[in-house]
Amino acid sequence: MSEMQATYLKDYLPPAYRVTHTELTFDLEPSATRVKARLHVERHPEREPDEKETGLPLELAGEQLKLISVAIDGQVLEADEFTVDDKTLTVATVPERFLLDTEVEIDPDANTALEGLYRSNGMFCTQCEPEGFRRITFYPDRPDVMATFSTTVIGDRDALPVLLSNGNPVERGELPNNRHFVTWEDPHPKPSYLFALVAGSLEKVEDHYTTMSGREVLLQIWVEAENLDKTEHAMASLKRSMQWDEETYGREYDLDRFMIVAVNDFNMGAMENKGLNIFNSAAVLTHPQTANDATFQRVEGIVAHEYFHNWSGNRVTCRDWFQLSLKEGFTVFRDQTFSADVNSAPVKRIEDVSFFRTAQFAEDAGPTAHPIRPDHYIEISNFYTLTIYEKGAEVVRMLRHLLGWEDFRRGSDLYFERFDGQAVTIEDFVACMAEVSGLDLDQFLRWYSQSGTPEIDAHGEYDYATCEYRLRLSQRTPATPGQTAKLPLHIPVRLGLVGTKSGHDLSLTLSGKDGESEKLGKDAVIHLREAEQTFVFTDVEEAPVPSLLRGFSAPVKLRYPYSREELAFLLTHDSDGFNRWDAGQRLTLLALDDLIAAHRNGVEKVMDSRLIEAYRSLLNEPGDDKAVLAEMLTLPSEAYIAEQQPTVDVDAIHAAREFVRQSLAYQLRDDFLAVYRDNLSDEPYAPTPEQIAQRRLKNVALAYLMSIETEEAVSLTQQQLEQSANMTDVRAALTLLAHSDRTDLAEPALKAFGEKWAHDPLVMDQWFTIQVTRPQADVLERVRFLMGHPLFSMKNPNKVRALIGAFAQNRVNFHRLDGEGYKLLADVVIELNRLNPEIAARIITPLTRWQRFEDERQALMKAELERIRAEKLSPNVYEMVERALA
Ligand code: PHE
Ligand code: ZN
Repeated sequence: MSEMQATYLKDYLPPAYRVTHTELTFDLEPSATRVKARLHVERHPEREPDEKETGLPLELAGEQLKLISVAIDGQVLEADEFTVDDKTLTVATVPERFLLDTEVEIDPDANTALEGLYRSNGMFCTQCEPEGFRRITFYPDRPDVMATFSTTVIGDRDALPVLLSNGNPVERGELPNNRHFVTWEDPHPKPSYLFALVAGSLEKVEDHYTTMSGREVLLQIWVEAENLDKTEHAMASLKRSMQWDEETYGREYDLDRFMIVAVNDFNMGAMENKGLNIFNSAAVLTHPQTANDATFQRVEGIVAHEYFHNWSGNRVTCRDWFQLSLKEGFTVFRDQTFSADVNSAPVKRIEDVSFFRTAQFAEDAGPTAHPIRPDHYIEISNFYTLTIYEKGAEVVRMLRHLLGWEDFRRGSDLYFERFDGQAVTIEDFVACMAEVSGLDLDQFLRWYSQSGTPEIDAHGEYDYATCEYRLRLSQRTPATPGQTAKLPLHIPVRLGLVGTKSGHDLSLTLSGKDGESEKLGKDAVIHLREAEQTFVFTDVEEAPVPSLLRGFSAPVKLRYPYSREELAFLLTHDSDGFNRWDAGQRLTLLALDDLIAAHRNGVEKVMDSRLIEAYRSLLNEPGDDKAVLAEMLTLPSEAYIAEQQPTVDVDAIHAAREFVRQSLAYQLRDDFLAVYRDNLSDEPYAPTPEQIAQRRLKNVALAYLMSIETEEAVSLTQQQLEQSANMTDVRAALTLLAHSDRTDLAEPALKAFGEKWAHDPLVMDQWFTIQVTRPQADVLERVRFLMGHPLFSMKNPNKVRALIGAFAQNRVNFHRLDGEGYKLLADVVIELNRLNPEIAARIITPLTRWQRFEDERQALMKAELERIRAEKLSPNVYEMVERALA
């Protein structure tokens, strides 16, 4: 099976030919679009043929294209002068430098994979990363071929009044048969994956930005008319991002216009096409009445992310797709820092880390684990993963810890300057960091090639006689698929020693090998490089509790035998907000461990009173900002608790967590009620960090109260649902009612909401999700029922995620012991495999984690994977299933 062949990093060769300039003409028709391409091609200087070769063949990628004609330097080629199959067009002999003209026909309406050119709600749009451009025209569709583009878009004047592509519009005009055209020129050489085209009946919102060197940039957000009132936040976020990148990284925008387009059918969040970012409407549209605070923050982060790609990704791009994390890891790091800067920094870190430790750790621990730079793939679309993105960002963050901000910024400057306009590698990036700082980063590079989550065991000992504190750290990384032997990594451990008497951070003096000692201040980064290493701190004036891995300074699991008293102490005394939160999480997890064991052994559950007291003090001495407090009051998710267990017992975890929630609510109901009342507000909605924190805290308190369903809580929730004018409060209240056991609360609320918002697809996505995340046992039947809802469609990725993806996160119901949850997901995978392989290969993920469960569930999950394997599979799903069952 040729299409299932893997591509290997070690096989990389520069392309035989490069394209310096690309001219495209699109004649848009829904099911028969003509694409003419004129490529200015020349032999690549780094790929001279050796003596035996008479010349290298020209090979162009092309899929699902109907070839009409091909010509070289104006000479139409006869059928025996080239070969074409379902993947490649090959011309055996070509000149050193030539013009290649091709014409193809494509069918946008038949394109349900949403890669290449497709239609969404009547509008034409493209998605080319990573290998979608080959579904538009024959091309050396690889990121190390960079060309300037000139694109003419022709379409019907009424159906497609707006015709967009990358760069600047240079010509427009009328054509016969009620058609018109616009020609766009993009002066910046770019790989084909950054190409974009949009055509439709769209409206725009405009603004301007003056760059640091005084250039005016036109900013446009293009949407369907009914969404014009949902663009304000994205526009504000864009301007903030542009300014932040100038101030923080010295990066200025480089075209005269920057456009964002919202489309309803989109596989991912958004795409950084040069000058023409295309967004999933869910990742750009907001309105106080239709989007909650989390969505406002997500939109801000994604707008920033795509904008930041203009430098980290577009100006400097990836040599090949193995280097994907070069642009994604760095850009995620940049957007995380941006969001931290414009919101509450500790909360942003808490959110990112709790997501990371839940989802990326699970990926690293499962059969699809892979390094940040994989060494092979079957389908590159399967590698847009948490490891490439989020772990990649953590690795960049470690570099910043190791170098300090100033050197890190100098390294970044050097990288952008040296490689501007080039397609480069991860080593190139790290080499810049090493060069500016003088640090040896060779060992550090292992982070990119070694998969799996390193585990650090820490032990501390205080010697009262000598005032020495000895910290022994040992690291090991468990085996992952294809990688059994692991080497020690270079790990920055940020730490403090908190004095048990004073409650303050103590001064750190680290003693070196030759008796010399180094003063480190009160919060320092130490470098763990060996498998086992002991750090000796001298002149420690009192017995400390160590606060380790502050701010989650490395993407590792850290074990330290903290007592519950020590954790309670850190919870109130650690100067690092993140670690204060983490101490609370650890304390809660210890209590949960006991309760999970009790549940399994059928003995009575007893709540740890220390936890209640810890929560009581949080509620009554709110020292932290409200946003951090809300995080501290939030219990670890079932998924995160599951990550801590050797074998996941879905029901015991659910029962234990519910028990903690309800115990806290019973014991502290007056405190929660007071917090709820104190945080009511009638200010008009704004997505400011202060307001967001206040709403979050209020709704966390309400959720505790609703967990015991007091009459008072029920009426407060109903009041909130009826009286709030913003989706944050409405959705929080609706979720609480919808997730209640009382159908008299759940059903009327859901019905009214569904009727009110039936016209708004993004709100209806939320309505689907709320219903299928209910803990009640009837959910699976509800999912099947909702799959028949007129607003549900298997062809719309947002709907699939809102209904099926959300259901698969509903742990107790997805993991039903009759296997019906698994069966439902497998049915969906099989259907999507045909319609949209990329989404099919993503939605299957929960099934690939079968090894984490007990035998009975393992067998059921495997049986479904095997049922999928028996189908005729796309490379995407094939690769996932093979890895899962390997
Ligand atoms: N490159 C996009 C981003 O990270 C993600 C993406 C990948 C979108 C593949 C579409 C297809 O911003
Ligand atoms: Zn990205």
